[in-house]
Amino acid sequence: MAAKRGAWRTRFGFYLLAIGSACGLGNLWRFPYVVGENGGGAFILLYVFMALAIGAPMLIAELMLGKNTRKSVMVATQQMAQKSNTGFKWAGRLAVILTIVVFSYYAVISGWVLHFMTQFFVSLFSDYESASSKTNLAALMGNGWLQLMLASAHILITVVVVVKGVQEGLERWISYMMPLFAALVIVLLVKSFSLPSTPEVVRFLFYPDFSKLTMSSLNHALGHVFFTLSLGFGTMVTYGSYMRDEDHVPTAGFRVALVDSLISLVAVMMIFPVAFQASNVPLTDPALMFEVLPRYLLGIHGGTLFGLAFFVCLYMAALNASIGLLEVVVSNFVDTKKNIGRVRATWYSGLVALLLAILPALSSSVLKAVRVGGRSLIESLDSLLINWFLPLVALAILLAFYKGTSEKEKEVSFIDKDKFVSYSMYPHWIFVLKWVAPAIIGLGFVLQVLSLF
Ligand code: PFF
Repeated sequence: MAAKRGAWRTRFGFYLLAIGSACGLGNLWRFPYVVGENGGGAFILLYVFMALAIGAPMLIAELMLGKNTRKSVMVATQQMAQKSNTGFKWAGRLAVILTIVVFSYYAVISGWVLHFMTQFFVSLFSDYESASSKTNLAALMGNGWLQLMLASAHILITVVVVVKGVQEGLERWISYMMPLFAALVIVLLVKSFSLPSTPEVVRFLFYPDFSKLTMSSLNHALGHVFFTLSLGFGTMVTYGSYMRDEDHVPTAGFRVALVDSLISLVAVMMIFPVAFQASNVPLTDPALMFEVLPRYLLGIHGGTLFGLAFFVCLYMAALNASIGLLEVVVSNFVDTKKNIGRVRATWYSGLVALLLAILPALSSSVLKAVRVGGRSLIESLDSLLINWFLPLVALAILLAFYKGTSEKEKEVSFIDKDKFVSYSMYPHWIFVLKWVAPAIIGLGFVLQVLSLF
């Protein structure tokens, strides 16, 4: 890794990177259609509750695992398994496998962002008619090879950044762009909230109709919490390993979870009024954001330039998250296969990701006919990874940490003498890690299995 263990000079550095990894396509692209799939308000309530009650405590645990061991996820879970004499050493290995597969399809979606970014740029120089044909999603969806090319370009960019070892600088630089992104999102939020569809949207998003929840909703909420907080991948373990001794992990974990959840809420409030206005867009479509935003942006005054700035920022956020994903794979590769060398490990990982990206990239064109349970390949892959696999891996990492860390170590790492709140929260945190999180993840899993019948 580029940074040295405990190398961040300021606490701010940690926040920039951890929030940068958490906030990405998951918030803007994935969350809206998952909310659409699960019927709106009731799911949002369930999601926010899970993010703060389960996600934040588990994020604290992963950061602490990294900070206490100063190792990446595979070695850290191995150490924990040895200490507790349990079989959780495979947790880290599963996390790394999951990470490379997720990186490959994250690259396909990042490729979509790259496409709209370049199309908005070209549209600056053309009239409305040809601009709207360029920013048309159907053209991209019908062209699998274009999607594969764009995904390859994204993987190449990520690999080059990591090979050159400039990711730390780049990630910081990207983080400095994020206030601009926040400003654009707020402008868009205000604009879209003044559309006539707003009352309907407010009812949909904030009036909880619990009958809309399905047997799978709990796991959809949990899976998305883990995905968006980058839990179960090893990224947060790595970031924890760079924290300074004096940094207070619970405060950091809670803040990251809070900011990330707020951003997801802003994203749905920004996208749904436009989607409701368009009326013909299925809210459950994974392409929802790409379907509604470009068309809307082109229709407003100065929208092309705005759209370009928006997609540049979104691409930077996607790149930031991708660097985090690739870093996990490479650092674990190097940690366990010492003779391979970082550069070669990075190129190999990029190549594997590229091969894995073929299926999702072609899923809406050449492989359109391949459907699993009525869903396209990319939707099925997303669901399999995020709703089924990710909660289990996140739970395995949690258990490895819980069993391999003594009561005393947990207490010392959690409680800060100067923060009264840390005394009172400690027993709750332990209770959640020991009972609530495993029980809820188990329940979500059982309900999801039952929903198959
Ligand atoms: N949390 C990111 C998002 O919401 O887009 C996705 C992600 C990035 C997951 C990095 C895992 C990771 F290591």
